[in-house]
Amino acid sequence: MDLTLVDLPTEVVRTDRLVLRPYRPDDADAVHRACQDADIQRWTMVPSPYTEADAVEFVTRTTVDARAEGRALTTAVEADGMFVGAAGLHFTPGPLGPAVGYWVAPWARGHGYAAEAAHALAEWGLGLGAPRVHLTADVRNAASQVAAQRAGFTREGVVRSCLDYRDGTRGDAVLFGRLPED
Ligand SMILES: CC(C)(COP(=O)(O)OP(=O)(O)OC[C@H]1O[C@@H](n2cnc3c(N)ncnc32)[C@H](O)[C@@H]1OP(=O)(O)O)[C@@H](O)C(=O)NCCC(=O)NCCS
Repeated sequence: MDLTLVDLPTEVVRTDRLVLRPYRPDDADAVHRACQDADIQRWTMVPSPYTEADAVEFVTRTTVDARAEGRALTTAVEADGMFVGAAGLHFTPGPLGPAVGYWVAPWARGHGYAAEAAHALAEWGLGLGAPRVHLTADVRNAASQVAAQRAGFTREGVVRSCLDYRDGTRGDAVLFGRLPED
């Protein structure tokens, strides 16, 4: 994937309904409210409990540094000018290609936003020459698997024991991939 012509700190990706943009300090409140959600805490690696300080750190440092250091296109997802969730393309080294991740705030679910954002980030990475992009979802996370398939990803298999839960146990994930010709 060739990022030489991309200004990662400011890059914005647009879809029919969504704007995927850099985080701003004033996203902290919405991020904090969204991350109280049990499903986000269950299926993602966010801190638990999730404090206001965690949200401030996420919107002002974690996501900003990832862009500045060329590690990921981290995006706040907006619909109609409102924050509705988080989506990112992480430039993980290795044969699977960049990884798409997402969560949608509980108040914005059921509109296909996760699929639309994941589709756009995959197109963005493939458009810059990535030979493939991938996504993993817990085998029990049915909503995420629906979103991945709607985003044009193909179910490629199950990766056993690749998930590291907070309680020290491990779990299996479905691996999805998307190629330029998909
Ligand atoms: C997964 C998630 C991102 C989906 O966001 P979304 O924008 O609501 O996605 P969609 O609108 O495309 O909806 C997903 C579909 O899954 C369906 N779904 C939800 N829960 C489901 C379940 N338990 N079993 C089967 N399908 C389910 C929804 O009904 C919807 O299908 P529909 O439109 O036919 O009703 C959101 O639920 C979320 O943020 N979950 C917590 C964090 C998370 O799991 N992130 C992904 C980690 S891999």
